[in-house]
Amino acid sequence: PTLGPADLGTLETIACELAREAGRLVVDERPAGLGVSATKSSRTDIVTIMDTRSEQLLRERLAERRPDDGVLGEEGDSTAGTSGITWVVDPIDGTVNYLYDIPQYAVSVAACVGDTTRPGAWRAVAGAVYHPVLDEMFHAREGAGAFLRTTTGVHALSVSSVSRLDEALLGTGFGYDAQKRARQGAVVARVLPEVRDIRRAGSAALDLCAVAAARLDVYYESGLNPWDLAAGELIVREAGGEVVGRGGGPASADLVVAGPAVLVAPIRALVD
Ligand code: IPD
Ligand code: CA
Ligand code: CA
Ligand code: CA
Repeated sequence: PTLGPADLGTLETIACELAREAGRLVVDERPAGLGVSATKSSRTDIVTIMDTRSEQLLRERLAERRPDDGVLGEEGDSTAGTSGITWVVDPIDGTVNYLYDIPQYAVSVAACVGDTTRPGAWRAVAGAVYHPVLDEMFHAREGAGAFLRTTTGVHALSVSSVSRLDEALLGTGFGYDAQKRARQGAVVARVLPEVRDIRRAGSAALDLCAVAAARLDVYYESGLNPWDLAAGELIVREAGGEVVGRGGGPASADLVVAGPAVLVAPIRALVD
């Protein structure tokens, strides 16, 4: 589709409104004694009732407001649209934190173009990541910069100006597969002596937004899915950062490295 500035603005507004409504739902209706409602790829890969409810709400709202668009969400079947736009949504990013009531989780909503089944063949053109506990809304649309709306106002985002690895605070995360985790642990052992310190905060979408806001200097992870990445990647780019994958190609399930170009290069040399 040809999307002008007004269209991108509309998509960005919808992304923010949906992320906020779903974020409020998961905070306001978090049941006492929340448990695991199902496991997926492994015993560590969990779903709660609120992951399911948040995704249902996002899908209902999209069906009302954007009936011609496709939807790809973590907890549901992907639906094809006719408009060329696909909404890529993570109903709770940071489910393990949410289960333990650790206030570091978000709802991620992105309007994307291209083929979301092939890495490098799609991109987000507008998106939002909402941290409901802090009431922080990270958002961007292509070509217009990245912003953080808080209770005190709207702040333009730009990535860190740190240029040395030994002064860089690095974010990362781990997938749910035990074999992959063993490999990820070996990579961490290689990286840790080189950087200021490492954070594993538990939400890839918020990690990417932290890079955009210079709350982390650089970030890498392998095993991400499109819904972890879609909105956050756009937000990093619009904050002046680079987001790349294996061999410096597009970010994919194999690898995502995000940050200022001057830090992405040495991290890639260690982890790629
Ligand atoms: C997970 C989180 C975590 C990351 C995992 C993701 P989920 O998403 O983003 O930080 O390390 O790779 O799967 O399952 O909480 O939506
Ligand atoms: Ca999950
Ligand atoms: Ca996720
Ligand atoms: Ca999720």
